[in-house]
Amino acid sequence: MRNKIILIMKSLFKVSKALLVVLSVIFKVIFRLLHHLSHAVTNKLRFSITFKITTTYVFLFLLIFCLMSVGITVSFRYYIQNNPPEDYVLFLVAILGIFNIVGLISIIFFGSKASRKLLAPIKIMTKTVKEISINVLDKRLDVSGSKDELKDLARTFNEMLDRIQKSVEQQNQFVSDASHELRTPIAVIQGYADLLDRWGKDDQQVLEESIAAIKSEAVSMKSLVEKLLFLARGDKNTQRVEKADFVLSEVINEILKETRLIDKSHNILNDQNEDLIIHADQKLIKEAIRIFMDNSIKFTPAGGTIKLNLYQKNKRALICIEDTGIGISQEDLPYIFNRFYRADKSRTKASGGTGLGLAIAKWIIDNHDGKINVWSELNVMTVVRIELPLCI
Ligand SMILES: Nc1ncnc2c1ncn2[C@@H]1O[C@H](COP(=O)(O)OP(=O)(O)O)[C@@H](O)[C@H]1O
Ligand SMILES: [Mg+2]
Repeated sequence: MRNKIILIMKSLFKVSKALLVVLSVIFKVIFRLLHHLSHAVTNKLRFSITFKITTTYVFLFLLIFCLMSVGITVSFRYYIQNNPPEDYVLFLVAILGIFNIVGLISIIFFGSKASRKLLAPIKIMTKTVKEISINVLDKRLDVSGSKDELKDLARTFNEMLDRIQKSVEQQNQFVSDASHELRTPIAVIQGYADLLDRWGKDDQQVLEESIAAIKSEAVSMKSLVEKLLFLARGDKNTQRVEKADFVLSEVINEILKETRLIDKSHNILNDQNEDLIIHADQKLIKEAIRIFMDNSIKFTPAGGTIKLNLYQKNKRALICIEDTGIGISQEDLPYIFNRFYRADKSRTKASGGTGLGLAIAKWIIDNHDGKINVWSELNVMTVVRIELPLCI
């Protein structure tokens, strides 16, 4: 009896060893085939990860189950044929035990291999994400390969990185431009202070000239710092916007009156000023319109015409500012709302421009769900149209 059991165990061990070798060869071939096939198919079709994992495990289970059944049947039959009829239960228990263990090991081994392969992109993603920092923002996740949720995640992550990189670059540019702009007035003030120190105490003319220059530079520096602070508050979402209902035509009348008072060299005209009520921050809207009016005054030669109109179209209030000035070239037009952008640097610098006005105006209008359109022809005209939602 003992010898028999040992014999059974020995023969079963041999059979299971051979089975394992055959299994691994079959799996290798099938895996390679499936890999090629799935690559070709998934490149064309889209399968979710859940679907891929489920089908992989179902397939694996079916394969192992079939092989186990064949193995058990074959070995049982072989035993019955070669041994006299007696107690088969012991043999059956042993055979089932061994085949179950072999099946379990195969499922664990091949299952973990398949899962690792399916989830490999996560490992690569983690490695790449770890390498990304505020100083290394140009790295992107690989989005080649099969179409699934991981590819969507990688693509969304890359898009987010694009936005962050752009904003960091803009921020750096902003800081560098702001420092550059502040350097000039500081240098001028320093120059005049030195001049005063050396000659100004006795020379009345130097004294007066230096004081005037220092005062004027201080005024422009203050205005620049205020503009920078406005934009910084806008970026941080801390700029206060106090919206209330008000009659826009009254604001237009105020601006027309004030502009006519300070600017006598242009024809300031108004054809339409409909009684329209909007829900907005009155001070900010007035400031935005003023920015456009100031530009028209600045960039229109004396004797030119500046028109400010307000009318209604498609339930929107339209504010139109037109001038017959130097205009903006088509190359410059897309950039005029960028911070510190000046189409003609030498000219606008002489007239005290910082290139921040339109960036501020755009922030204000954007924060009122409005839209700005600009049309211009060099040396002919510039038309700005601001659209704001009307109060219903
Ligand atoms: N009405 C206009 N006519 C001609 N050029 C204009 C006009 N408005 C804006 N621009 C151009 O757009 C640039 C940006 O305007 P803005 O942001 O107000 O800066 P600035 O401080 O120079 O006025 C100006 O430097 C100018 O080149
Ligand atoms: Mg301006």
